Amino acid sequence: MTKRVAILISGGGSNMVALAQSMHGDHPARPVLVMSNDPQAGGLAKARAMNIPTLAIDHKPYGKDRAAFEAALQKALETAKPEIICLAGFMRILTPEFTAKWEGRMLNIHPSLLPKYKGLHTHARALEAGDSEHGCSVHEVTAALDDGPILGQARIAVHAGDTPETLATRLLPLEHALYVAVLRRFAAGDRTPINLDG
Ligand code: GRF
Repeated sequence: MTKRVAILISGGGSNMVALAQSMHGDHPARPVLVMSNDPQAGGLAKARAMNIPTLAIDHKPYGKDRAAFEAALQKALETAKPEIICLAGFMRILTPEFTAKWEGRMLNIHPSLLPKYKGLHTHARALEAGDSEHGCSVHEVTAALDDGPILGQARIAVHAGDTPETLATRLLPLEHALYVAVLRRFAAGDRTPINLDG
């Protein structure tokens, strides 16, 4: 039986597109929902173009009431019945109560070589630190932000003259390759970490 996958996005959704396009043929999973906290997220139209059901649950009307926003997310997920959730550029921090419900079944892509640079502005921070290499990580989501077991990493060299923008651009195709490789393995029940070099 193929595994049902929900993909949560906040923006353009290039990781979501890569994941969705990879799930065909003998792949052990299929996308059943693309959901966003931003009704204007560009990725929603891309998902619709791939005939994947989409849903937008705007977090703004909920203000600081994270539990109420997450209850709406959870209700939609209970309808779609995914076995795996992929956070793909989903920029809302989830509460421990929510992550506990999906622990062991929820993945995230983060644009740094975790445990370095949890949180935001990872490219700028790697440059400020004078790092010679940078990268991205796919990890299981737990209560602590960007902290769960790492399932894969991909590395790139930092070049003289790099900016956060040039790093982000050079890293994004590797994010796609890494997330696709990790999801295929994870959906088959294999948590052996994957390492890619750019
Ligand atoms: C990616 O760099 C991802 O690592 C980060 O947000 C960006 C989202 O890109 N969390 P996209 O929406 O998948 O194109």
